[in-house]
Amino acid sequence: MMSAPEKPLRIGVLGAANIARAFITALRGSTKVDICAVASRNAEKAAAFCKENGIAHSFGSYEAMLADSSIEAVYNPLPNNLHAEWSIKAANAGKHVLCEKPFAANSVETKAMFDAAAANKVYVVEAYPYRAQPQTIKLAELLRERAIGKVQLIQASFGFPLPVNGNIRWDPSLAGGALMDAGSYPVSLVRMIAGERPTRVHAMARFADSGVDRTLIGSIDFPGGVMAQISCSFGTARHRHAMIIGDAGSIETAYYNDTSDKLPPHVIIKRSIAFDAPREIIECAAAPGFRVQGEAFYDLVRDGWASWPGATPEETTDIMLTIDALAASARDGKVVAIQH
Ligand SMILES: NC(=O)c1ccc[n+]([C@@H]2O[C@H](COP(=O)([O-])OP(=O)(O)OC[C@H]3O[C@@H](n4cnc5c(N)ncnc54)[C@H](OP(=O)(O)O)[C@@H]3O)[C@@H](O)[C@H]2O)c1
Repeated sequence: MMSAPEKPLRIGVLGAANIARAFITALRGSTKVDICAVASRNAEKAAAFCKENGIAHSFGSYEAMLADSSIEAVYNPLPNNLHAEWSIKAANAGKHVLCEKPFAANSVETKAMFDAAAANKVYVVEAYPYRAQPQTIKLAELLRERAIGKVQLIQASFGFPLPVNGNIRWDPSLAGGALMDAGSYPVSLVRMIAGERPTRVHAMARFADSGVDRTLIGSIDFPGGVMAQISCSFGTARHRHAMIIGDAGSIETAYYNDTSDKLPPHVIIKRSIAFDAPREIIECAAAPGFRVQGEAFYDLVRDGWASWPGATPEETTDIMLTIDALAASARDGKVVAIQH
């Protein structure tokens, strides 16, 4: 029997971000997580956001919230260029951190964030709600059981239409771009499935007037034999899909963050090498992604790494190294080796 949580994890949110609304809504009523505060650079904005979202405490600066010793952890949904600075400040203030993807602006910052986590004995992890979804846990189980044999190829994509309207994702100075934003998802999925550190990449991109990549496709090579192709875009219809092909079958998944009747929580598997073999649809439980991720973060803080379904520090390090390498390759057209 599951025991009742000892006490909810008190989380403060850095920034009155759009995505913080979804985070707060999904975790409302949780017995594991209490989102008790939001900090904004502007006190009036913080107060209005807290009133609108039913949050008890507002802070007029990020520093003030980090100085509050009653807050145990922070959720960091700031623009990508601020993830490292504020996650490190939070860790130095003794807070655990659930940091939005992409974890940082680059792999150098990523290392500094994990160094700060180690120095302060706190958990600093990257937010990928799909990783805590029952369908992703089922996918990982099928791959462990070798249900499609040995994985050889992965194709993973994520894209959506993003109007050019001042969104942080179009701004190179805020570490925007399709690869950083949408592309971090397929890169993370590919790293999870391959289960080892990538060695080299090759990429092509089309760029927006602001200078960030608008659409990018890339290849990623792994030493154990897996080869992966990823794509991401701000200029397509909304899509999110992965095909994992082994030497004895294949699996399709949408690796959704949120699953529901409209976004079905299932994995489609063909346990055969034949074209016309039947596809089995494995139904999984539906779950709001931020809810399962937030509660998994509670379990991590209270019980340690064994219970964490999300990206480990080594995976996050590799995701950021891969993003750095894909971005460099898309700029100069060459194959880029990844140095670990
Ligand atoms: N996991 C997911 O599925 C998912 C989905 C969406 C977004 N995200 C991630 O969450 C983060 C935020 O995305 P969002 O769409 O919610 O962004 P957003 O609405 O633009 O919010 C970002 C917040 O950062 C603060 N900020 C601090 N300095 C800023 C600056 N120079 N320019 C703009 N904002 C600044 C602002 O809060 P104050 O003004 O209150 O200080 C702002 O509200 C990104 O890293 C993104 O990748 C993840």
